[in-house]
Amino acid sequence: MDISSLKSQLSEHGQEHVLKFWDSLTEAQKQTLYKELSSINVAQVGEYFKNAQATLQAASEKIDDLLEPVPKELCGSVTRTSVDTLQKYETEGLKQISNGKVAMLLLAGGQGTRLGVSYPKGMYNVGLPSGKTLYQLQAERILAVEKLAEKATGSKGVIPWYIMTSEHTKEPTEDFFSKHNHFGLKPENVMLFEQNQLPALTLEGKLILTNKAKVALSPDGNGGLYKALKSSNVLKDLEHRGIEFIHVYCVDNILVKMADPVFIGFCIQKGANCGAKVVEKSFPTEAVGVVCKVDGQYQVVEYSEITQKTAEKRNPDGRLTFNAGNICNHFFTLDFLRDVSLNHEHELKHHVAKKKIPYVDDDGTEHKPSKPNGIKMEKFVFDVFQFATDSNFAVWEVIREDEFSPLKNADEAGKDTPTTCRTALCSLHSRYLSAAGAKLLRADGSPYPDSLSQPNGTDGTGDGNSPNDIPICEISPLVSYAGEGLESVAKDQTFTTPVMLELSSDGSVNTSQPKST
Ligand code: UD1
Repeated sequence: MDISSLKSQLSEHGQEHVLKFWDSLTEAQKQTLYKELSSINVAQVGEYFKNAQATLQAASEKIDDLLEPVPKELCGSVTRTSVDTLQKYETEGLKQISNGKVAMLLLAGGQGTRLGVSYPKGMYNVGLPSGKTLYQLQAERILAVEKLAEKATGSKGVIPWYIMTSEHTKEPTEDFFSKHNHFGLKPENVMLFEQNQLPALTLEGKLILTNKAKVALSPDGNGGLYKALKSSNVLKDLEHRGIEFIHVYCVDNILVKMADPVFIGFCIQKGANCGAKVVEKSFPTEAVGVVCKVDGQYQVVEYSEITQKTAEKRNPDGRLTFNAGNICNHFFTLDFLRDVSLNHEHELKHHVAKKKIPYVDDDGTEHKPSKPNGIKMEKFVFDVFQFATDSNFAVWEVIREDEFSPLKNADEAGKDTPTTCRTALCSLHSRYLSAAGAKLLRADGSPYPDSLSQPNGTDGTGDGNSPNDIPICEISPLVSYAGEGLESVAKDQTFTTPVMLELSSDGSVNTSQPKST
């Protein structure tokens, strides 16, 4: 440990206060703090702080006048595309999967503070009949779409799965996958890598000690991806495997279509190297970012960054003008990712949020503040949209009830909770079964209302039906990826709920509580 050199570096940038308890620390604590401080580039953090002040200032200015919707010719929608064209997109996507050109990349470095669990969100079990966690559902959907691609083309391709973790999530995620034999995937095709951390700062730009021997550090945002792709050699691995297209997504959407062949095929046929999957924003004040153009560049804009008047603006057909709700589901070509990571990562600005950051005072007493006392700086994954152009950007709109139900909060919050996720999945799967010709009955033998077969709720709970009245119905991804191939088990059959369709070891479909008519 070269403590005098560290001390002089810190002093040069006005950060020497983080060593104020040094003499009272144990040898082990000194080692840890030394390692932590040595990993922080204090000069760079100073620069970031200057930029953060400008960002905070700009955040209070609305950007309405600079806003334009994404041009129509760059957008596609699952509901406004003919069945033939949808099939063409799907065929293209499945072909690329079979050719081994598609990879999945999961952003899983978040701390899941809102959900309030101490382990990574992907390990969460929302209470489905199978007890499957988000990670298991995602792993099985990879296996399922690989199988679909093989069936369509005759050749089997592998979809490698890259998982970005952080200091908090890496070890538990690794252990979880090992413990569960990678849910049937080959371990060499599941790659975990770690994003970087950044220190939190006081409102005056000083580093914060959370206790006598620990600096407040947190992951550098899901846009930390672009730095990590380079530093952790993921770019090289993608190249080595011959991957051309990468589907990037966030961990919490229970309905996520892994390596969605339709989305991938749409982006490829549009000639896009950067694409976003969106759902129609349901009402002007809904707290989702919208994909749009700002001052000529593609971007995701939060509701708080525009006035209510702009958020409420409608087209002649009655739809919101800025309605492309971001669901954190992105398509990139490897060429685009490589260019952004190697040449533009430093141009991405940090988003700044005021936060309550636990700290230790001069007497060594630890505090949990009740008001924001500092800032955190994060880069966002979608900020690279600015490097896309009219000729290579694409937006694909999907049906919310089919593809988007995120797990953000604990049940008390009422929205985006384990209950809403469970309900959304059961509702979708019961619609799959109905569409395949099955009839679902309640445990007492009474039928469910017809409205349950329509995906027209806004919160994944069906058409105004209470979550308690949604059939408990779960179809393993190994049986069906997105509702296909169910006729042989479902046509003219009656199922009393709860019902679960699983794949047996002999390849047949096992249905619990089935009842033939
Ligand atoms: C995100 C989107 C938002 C979108 C919403 C839909 C971003 C920045 N925002 O918001 O536009 O409407 O999802 O659900 O993408 N993560 C990391 N490292 C980090 C921080 C987060 O990997 O340092 C991961 C999380 O584990 C998660 C994903 O990024 O998988 C999204 O993060 P989260 O904080 O949940 O974003 P939201 O605010 O919900």
